[in-house]
Amino acid sequence: MPKIKSHFVCNQCGAISPKWVGKCPECGSWNSFTEEIIDKKEDKNQSTPKNISIKKLSSISGIEVDRFITGIKEFDQVLGGGLVKGSVILIGGEPGIGKSTIMLQISAILTNEKKKVIYFSGEESYSQIKIRADRLGIGNIELDIVSTNSFENIQEILKSNFYDYAIIDSIQTFYSEEISSAAGTVSQIKHITHNLVEIAKSIGTTIFIIGQVTKEGSIAGPKVLEHLVDTVLYFEGDYNRGIRILRSVKNRFGPTNEVGFFEMSDKGLKEISYKELLISSSNFSGRALTSIMEGTRFFLVEVESLVTPTFFNFSKRIANGFDLNRLNMIAAILEKRGGLNISNHDIYLSIAGGLKINEPAADLAISASLISAFKNTPLPESSIFIGEVSLTGEVRQVSNLKNRINEALKLNIKNIFAPGKLDEKDLNFYSINNILDLIKYL
Ligand SMILES: Nc1ncnc2c1ncn2[C@@H]1O[C@H](COP(=O)(O)OP(=O)(O)OP(=O)(O)O)[C@@H](O)[C@H]1O
Ligand SMILES: [Mg+2]
Ligand SMILES: [Zn+2]
Repeated sequence: MPKIKSHFVCNQCGAISPKWVGKCPECGSWNSFTEEIIDKKEDKNQSTPKNISIKKLSSISGIEVDRFITGIKEFDQVLGGGLVKGSVILIGGEPGIGKSTIMLQISAILTNEKKKVIYFSGEESYSQIKIRADRLGIGNIELDIVSTNSFENIQEILKSNFYDYAIIDSIQTFYSEEISSAAGTVSQIKHITHNLVEIAKSIGTTIFIIGQVTKEGSIAGPKVLEHLVDTVLYFEGDYNRGIRILRSVKNRFGPTNEVGFFEMSDKGLKEISYKELLISSSNFSGRALTSIMEGTRFFLVEVESLVTPTFFNFSKRIANGFDLNRLNMIAAILEKRGGLNISNHDIYLSIAGGLKINEPAADLAISASLISAFKNTPLPESSIFIGEVSLTGEVRQVSNLKNRINEALKLNIKNIFAPGKLDEKDLNFYSINNILDLIKYL
């Protein structure tokens, strides 16, 4: 009997190694390698492809992409202006965040517009899907449902009947007979996605692929699929407050990092204005506002922090929605350059609304929040802090200051703390060019 060939695949980035390794040399993940049998039965038509035509770029007529506007403004915005026909969209998110819910709601919109839509579920039965649809008030839509785990079934159906849209919920639960490894492994999900992309491009069906993201990464994450698909959306949010944020991290048909805001209730996801949820009116110490840019949007974000004396030898630092290393850096700058005696304190920092931010423009607001929490004094009312803090303690200008300030003015926030100069009526500009200026003002 021939020896069964196998190799090891990193379930974070898809790197391949002939031997098991503890740490992935490509992406640095620990314990991410799992064994997979190499037994692909594909490669059957390796002959030269027929029907290939080489065209001069100048002779190709550019056709505007064909988009469908769903009417859910926050969703259309994240997609860069609606759904592009024949594209493949990956929607990732943690369990329970609302992936199946939003797809069912989108299905209702599409079927109401007389589109042919099919929903393949590998994890729920027909009646489970029906119960959810009834709860959302869309139990009677003309949606085709297939509960299966076989990718060959999906392929057969999509190739023999034309559908405008197909939903695959979720990629990790389907199994192709052409690959011998288990469902959910890197080889399986890559193989299936690859074939779905081929179907989308050849038939014109728009395909949504739902991908489960687990915190430990024990199951192959959707990360390895990102380069195969056209658009990648991630769902994040604050479970307790019901806020959900949809973000585009890749888009071949629009800007990336677009965000859309939703609220989850028993009737499903509803679009909301972020202002209602991300900004509170009361003024406590440790609370600071900043204006950030995501994709093409500007919006205000609230930073909250708590600073308390350390009881043990090591001070504790926790950051939610913000990079912990950057928080540590800002705290060190406040200590060293600003003379704030913060090192023997525990710091808890969080971004309101479950939002994740990584813009250096938030540095100044983080600094203000920490100073305010440390001194236990609220910041001046209706103030906003915009600027990047450097290791020397200098505060640097950030891009699009005007747009950021405009967002603040819409909410009647008139005290602007930022580096440089700005002469404008209707607002009070406080020039903060060094972290020391900030400490002096507060
Ligand atoms: N009766 C209900 N009332 C309010 N919210 C509900 C109700 N039932 C479910 N939900 C919300 O819907 C969420 C689950 O949504 P959904 O099943 O679409 O998520 P999912 O991302 O597809 O999860 P999974 O990973 O399990 O497939 C729950 O976390 C909860 O917020
Ligand atoms: Mg689901
Ligand atoms: Zn890796």
